[in-house]
Amino acid sequence: MTKISPSVLSADFGNLDRDIEMLNASQAAMLHIDVMDGVFVPNISFGFPVIQAISRKATKPLDVHLMIVDPARYVSQVRDCGAEIMNVHFETCTHLNRVVQQIHDAGMKAAVTLNPATPVFMLEDIIDDVDMVLLMSVNPGFAAQKFIPVTLKKVRQLREMITAHGAKAEIEVDGGINLETGRQVVEAGADILVSGNFVFKAPDPIQTIADLTAL
Ligand code: DX5
Ligand code: ZN
Repeated sequence: MTKISPSVLSADFGNLDRDIEMLNASQAAMLHIDVMDGVFVPNISFGFPVIQAISRKATKPLDVHLMIVDPARYVSQVRDCGAEIMNVHFETCTHLNRVVQQIHDAGMKAAVTLNPATPVFMLEDIIDDVDMVLLMSVNPGFAAQKFIPVTLKKVRQLREMITAHGAKAEIEVDGGINLETGRQVVEAGADILVSGNFVFKAPDPIQTIADLTAL
């Protein structure tokens, strides 16, 4: 069983209630919430009022992925939205250890996200302190991009690092996930798959989430 975190970025925002109800009824383990600021990434998505609306409707944990500069400024606001997991990018945190502590102190699980070109070895001295690592398998900013194959090597390296440390961190992979790329990253050692376009553009999203869960 693979945990699936469908990315709400690919939902129909004119029918958000309907799409969240679909996710509630599905085997999705959590809901992936992509926040973009137009500075760290070349796109803007949505902010706290929309996350609160999703949170009121969702019956599953929120997995909030912050593609924003200086995410430490927003720890309490993310917590107040009811998020279970707060993902911050390695590339945006000069004082990553402190940010991870702040997320834990706020009562959330802390996840660190790596861009495709950031090597896994950068996590050597934080891996014992995080609940999850999110490996980007596309350059962040847009849904429906093509999976970057170097991710498979990174998943294997990260799995080795977690095992060597006896660490508890789960491995999540985000970007270009479908049944084929999903199978490859699960074989490489991933625990959680984010999927946006592949789920929401499918004729039967609930069945597609079930198919990904079975990988
Ligand atoms: C990309 C986002 C992803 C994206 C995934 O910046 O972080 O979560 O929505 O979408 P797909 O699965 O369509 O690549
Ligand atoms: Zn994401």
